[in-house]
Amino acid sequence: GKGTYPHYMAKEIDEQPAVMRKIVQHYQNEQGKLEIDPEILDTLLQSDRIYIVACGTSYNAGWVGKQLFEKLAHIPTEVHLASEFGYNMPLLTEKPFFIFLSQSGETADSRQVLVQINEMNYPSLTLTNVPGSTLSREARYTLLLQAGPEIAVASTKAYTAQIAVMAIIAELAAKADGLAADTDMMHELGIVASAIESVIDDRDFFEQLSLDHLSTSRNAFYIGRGIDYYLVMEACLKLKEVSYVQTEGFAAGELKHGTIALIEENTPVISVITEEKTGGHTRGNAHEVVSRGADSLIISMEGLDQPEDAYVLPKVHPLLTPLVSVVPTQLLAYYTSLHRGNDVDKPRNLAKSVTVE
Ligand code: F6R
Repeated sequence: GKGTYPHYMAKEIDEQPAVMRKIVQHYQNEQGKLEIDPEILDTLLQSDRIYIVACGTSYNAGWVGKQLFEKLAHIPTEVHLASEFGYNMPLLTEKPFFIFLSQSGETADSRQVLVQINEMNYPSLTLTNVPGSTLSREARYTLLLQAGPEIAVASTKAYTAQIAVMAIIAELAAKADGLAADTDMMHELGIVASAIESVIDDRDFFEQLSLDHLSTSRNAFYIGRGIDYYLVMEACLKLKEVSYVQTEGFAAGELKHGTIALIEENTPVISVITEEKTGGHTRGNAHEVVSRGADSLIISMEGLDQPEDAYVLPKVHPLLTPLVSVVPTQLLAYYTSLHRGNDVDKPRNLAKSVTVE
């Protein structure tokens, strides 16, 4: 049940630090080291490319997974929308490895792709929250997200759980290949758990931010670059699906190629800055929209912060920043939905698991 929480979404946002710790515990062996089924790792390491297939929030988590697999384990990774893959299949490499990301394990679009690739006998791994789910039964391998039941239609803790489990797989694949010698995911995920906690402690601040900047606006924008671009795609989906504020999330560098035409007096533009090499450029874009009248809010990370910033996130490993930067965006979506009088846990027109194509 919801316990003392008014909504499942609030409860599930709050559970994220515990989910991070649970994942670390679950994927630990008796020697206290991270471990997954060695057969999964072997198959993964024999492949020449990872194809991540998913929908919605799980798809957005997939892009962060791509960063992890490429940067840590040096395995080329593509991310595909399940609903497009079946109709427009990319040219596959010789030894593909498929990862299906699905909280419910029941998404029909993803299953359709799994059925197709099973016919070709390619190896597949489902990351799901639901043991025994269809995608889990039909894939060659399954790893569980350990997030506990996610009841709110808007996915929150499954996003962070998917990224954390992919971080573990990527690190183990890297180490098995003699890479990432000084990464310690167990330690880094512990730091993430505490960082998420400290952001959640500031929930009242985000409620006020939502009231001041989003509760009456017609539209909103999220911008970021690099890993923050992947994050803002999820931030944007979350805000639109529960608050019904028309939101676009896009690569900050693309602003001047079109979207800047939509900036009017007081249009909220939220910039997310957690990456050292791109942060300065995104900040420049934030200043450009201010000069066109936008209501700019900058969410940055310690070390990259400036006095103008609305909120500064605690610092975490550079490949794990979405685990922390997503939290303010979840809270903003939640409070904006609440203050607009929407049904937070059951937004209109949406279903928790989409079992039709
Ligand atoms: C967004 C949301 C949906 C799901 C999508 C995939 O908050 O809940 O976009 O992420 O329908 O669902 P799963 O992960 O169950 O395959």
